[in-house]
Amino acid sequence: MVARAENIGIRAIEVYFPSRYVDQVELEQHDGVSAGKYTIGLGQSKMAFCDDREDISSVCLTVVQSFMEKYNVSYSDIGRLEVGTETIIDKSKSTKTVLMKLFEESGNFNVEGIDTTNACYGGTSALFNACQWMDSSAWDGRLALVVAGDIAVYASGNARPSGGCGVVCMLVAPDAPLALEFPLRGTFMENTYDFYKPNMSSEFPTVDGPLSVTSYVRALDNAYLAYIDALEKRAAESAASLDSVDYLVFHSPYTKQPRCPQFADVQQFKDIAREDSYTNKVLEKAFINVSKQAFAAKTKPSLLAASNIGNMYTGSVFFGLASLLTEVSSADLQGKRIALFSYGSGCAASMYSFRVRGNTEEIAKALDLKARLDSRTKISPVEFEQIMALREKTHNALEYEPQSDVSKLFPGTFYLQKIDSMWRRAYGRTPLN
Ligand code: ACO
Repeated sequence: MVARAENIGIRAIEVYFPSRYVDQVELEQHDGVSAGKYTIGLGQSKMAFCDDREDISSVCLTVVQSFMEKYNVSYSDIGRLEVGTETIIDKSKSTKTVLMKLFEESGNFNVEGIDTTNACYGGTSALFNACQWMDSSAWDGRLALVVAGDIAVYASGNARPSGGCGVVCMLVAPDAPLALEFPLRGTFMENTYDFYKPNMSSEFPTVDGPLSVTSYVRALDNAYLAYIDALEKRAAESAASLDSVDYLVFHSPYTKQPRCPQFADVQQFKDIAREDSYTNKVLEKAFINVSKQAFAAKTKPSLLAASNIGNMYTGSVFFGLASLLTEVSSADLQGKRIALFSYGSGCAASMYSFRVRGNTEEIAKALDLKARLDSRTKISPVEFEQIMALREKTHNALEYEPQSDVSKLFPGTFYLQKIDSMWRRAYGRTPLN
């Protein structure tokens, strides 16, 4: 009999992002848009991207292997591995099954879990699955890994600067320093066509940008209200409000998006219909103004990665968590509640929370986020466009050997060696030193 797990949550985190980025100021100049559109208007400073050497499987292989090496975890100790991604290179074979290659040497093939997909929400669903497995009678005492991330690329045009690339690997375990507050969740799901990928021959999404922004805010408003309701009914917190939460980490397609909270109390707008409030720019600015202090204290520390990497779709909200653990000391986090807002177009959204009940210093140290972000190489917008054109041309290629130089990758990065005549992909890894 396995004893029931207590305080299930995130015990450790590793991230991976590509070694090269394009600067958003230079991109503004190159694209001929007004100065400040990407940097102030979207709140972005750098955007990560990858060439034809990396695909969703390679970036996930990189982050899982790096996680296992850094934290010295054995593949034999893993009983569940979940992947949340919307970067689909195969309509049947899951990324999870590619990751099973890493388990071969250990002989452990008894590993549940597959991929979960709905735009940027898959990682949250994967995390819920892993935590619920550990909380159930199906749990056999072993640990779980949750991998979430994407290669976020847009066709050239106004959405392109909101791309990025990043993937996270989290260890779900009992007695975790970040314990999931199981009953405290608010979810909002509905049928929208704001961002979707119906064109199987293209890596690019079909996007209705303005609708995606409104849909995000609508989902936030509704998920927040449901979360507050859960706080009052399931945690018996009377008059629950934003004050019940110490930190609020958002899915951040770009860092301007989390700045438009819809839950401040601004009396002069009280007669505006709820639906109209989602698109009212005057109201949005007033809300941003009244929530400045709360934003700086509760959310700003979680935007480090989003501003420097860009959107990572399923990985975005967890990079936000990793940023928070980097920017706020373990001592200051003790006993605090961290709420996450996860939004996936289409749409699926949840607000949920963790209670910090252990040391987070080791995680921050292992992430080494600032130094790793600083160690990247800047590439010109011209070269960035050439690389995007190469990815576009070779997407879905058969019998293909990538051209890009593997020496540009970080040490320990998995890369695509070739795609054979049956679309089977082979991967190599750059040396660790
Ligand atoms: N200086 C400062 N701010 C500026 C400047 C400037 N020179 N120029 C424009 N801005 C501001 C605008 O006023 C606007 O701010 P506001 O939102 O407060 O009004 C902001 O910059 C963006 O400018 P827009 O003209 O609205 O930008 P555009 O329509 O060209 O594109 C969009 C923005 C829609 C977000 C686009 O990048 C996109 O489609 N991205 C993909 C979809 C997306 O990320 N959606 C978010 C949620 S869904 C998801 O996560 C995928």
